[in-house]
Amino acid sequence: MAWLTYLYPRKSVNTVPMRPKIIAGNWKMNNNLEDALGLTSGILSRAQPGNTRVILCVPSPLLYPVATQLQGHPGFFCGAQQVHQEEKGAFTGEVSASMLRSVGVDYVIIGHSERRQLFGEKNDLLAAKTSRALASGLRPLFCCGEPLHVRAANGHIRHVARQLKAALFQLSPEEISQLVIAYEPVWAIGTGQTASNHQAQEMHAAIRQMIAGKYGAQLAENVPILYGGSVTPASAPELFTQPDVDGGLVGGASLKADDFVAIIHAAKAVEPC
Ligand code: PGA
Repeated sequence: MAWLTYLYPRKSVNTVPMRPKIIAGNWKMNNNLEDALGLTSGILSRAQPGNTRVILCVPSPLLYPVATQLQGHPGFFCGAQQVHQEEKGAFTGEVSASMLRSVGVDYVIIGHSERRQLFGEKNDLLAAKTSRALASGLRPLFCCGEPLHVRAANGHIRHVARQLKAALFQLSPEEISQLVIAYEPVWAIGTGQTASNHQAQEMHAAIRQMIAGKYGAQLAENVPILYGGSVTPASAPELFTQPDVDGGLVGGASLKADDFVAIIHAAKAVEPC
């Protein structure tokens, strides 16, 4: 029950936030069993994450072996990349939240732009998946972000506000406080083009403001907001110094142990004391 230990300290809004730093790797549809076990042991043997939480989001067939490998390593968690919105039933090929919990999964990515674009997942479906995940004790890593034409038209903040309102703002304060949010501008995913530190900070602060507007500043201060989109060992150190950037959701660079470990250490270097 690793997720039960993942509690955010409660504090006054006037104090320094104590949000944990989080580095999540999104393997997408990569790695067979042998690669997965090798990559996981490479990460475990080299990473010294301190208080930074590390989440490996792996393909469904690899969840059980990777979750098992992570057992006994405090601070490391296993995440899924997909969950169905129904509890169980005749949904051939799908995976339920309780199945994920039963094999040691603590987190699940919901709302990734590849699921939105390639699999037609819309906000109402994402709202249902988020509620189901939370009801089963999974913590959603909820992704939001704008496509390039929306940013070019300066509509990025409105776009993300609409995504959060439609998919998340039906949740109770207790549920929202279980979430991790990942801002992933679509134009930065897998392109090598990272948002600038300023662009990331501007959006992260805006997201925190949106949560504060609905749920209050104290709760908003404790929701971790990760940046995703071509994070590398080179871009991570500066990015993680931004006050509202609480870590990263890392795709390509999570497939190489050295790169991923360097990103974990960049987050550890800026942990709140
Ligand atoms: P990337 O992917 O780091 O390869 O851009 C990030 C993601 O899709 O979560």
